Amino acid sequence: MSKPAVLVCRAVFPDIVDRLREHFDVEDNPSDVVWTPAELIQRLQGKAGVFITGTQPIDTALLDACPQLKAVCSMAVGYNNVDVPACTAHGVVVSNAPDVLTETTADFGFALMMAAARRIAESEHFLRSGAWSKWSVDAFAGTDVHGATLGVLGMGRIGQAVARRGALGFGMKVIYHNRSRLDAAIEAELGARWVDKEALLRESDHLVIVVPYSAASHHLVGAAELALMKPTATLTNIARGGIVDDAALAQALRDKRIAAAGLDVFEGEPSVHPDLLTVPNVVLTPHIASASLPTRRAMAHLAVDNLIAALGFGPHAGHPPTALNPEAL
Ligand code: GLV
Repeated sequence: MSKPAVLVCRAVFPDIVDRLREHFDVEDNPSDVVWTPAELIQRLQGKAGVFITGTQPIDTALLDACPQLKAVCSMAVGYNNVDVPACTAHGVVVSNAPDVLTETTADFGFALMMAAARRIAESEHFLRSGAWSKWSVDAFAGTDVHGATLGVLGMGRIGQAVARRGALGFGMKVIYHNRSRLDAAIEAELGARWVDKEALLRESDHLVIVVPYSAASHHLVGAAELALMKPTATLTNIARGGIVDDAALAQALRDKRIAAAGLDVFEGEPSVHPDLLTVPNVVLTPHIASASLPTRRAMAHLAVDNLIAALGFGPHAGHPPTALNPEAL
């Protein structure tokens, strides 16, 4: 009997793709071409499953055009690129990759926040430019992280891991805003206090954004929200582009409405709003918060576990471990 066919959309670790070859006829993408939606549809013809990252759009048009598709398995935790209800309606199971990246992503969020607060990127550019001629008392003086108020917008797994670093490692006071409140025991462990969004913006010394992207979180932080923040505050976004209005943020940074920002994600990435590229008080990184090698490998393995199980093979046959819509099976 011939093996089911699957597609791997981006270049991933060859040994992990080999796990798929044990069960499937695999078309992979070792040269890492970014396919257009039309090219993706064309390559998906006859495929039962697809390994995606956080960027390929999986929508009704694609599902209608790929009737043999049964499983969409992403190595990302965020799945705003996938229309999950449409997948369910088409009998397509979807999985994401939670948990395995939580600590690595929180490490990076904390690093970006610290880089913004202590002006690390800005001062490094200054040094590299050859402009450093003398020590001065207030050169690149930033804001303290230890003992400051950490505000977390979106208190899921990654938000809690950021809060834990702040509370336990840096003696920070933690406030957060989330649709639902944490269990009292977790609030007590983190010393975290739920506040409304306005209080979060007003009281945070360092605001870290970790909410999922959806229509409801589009431009959740724009000019009006930035105007509520302290002029000494920093803003860090490790969630998704589009949650922060990048043009409004660039203006607020230029006007010193807030002190600094750290951004790993951008609306329309890999394009970056040109105004952000010209303000000095922002640290910009290319969507790498989960990018430690062990974590990226763990994310890819989890997507493969899901794909193998979703198509009825392996130890979890029929039960993909992190399915978002198991009812589709
Ligand atoms: C990365 O942004 C992810 O969602 O895994």
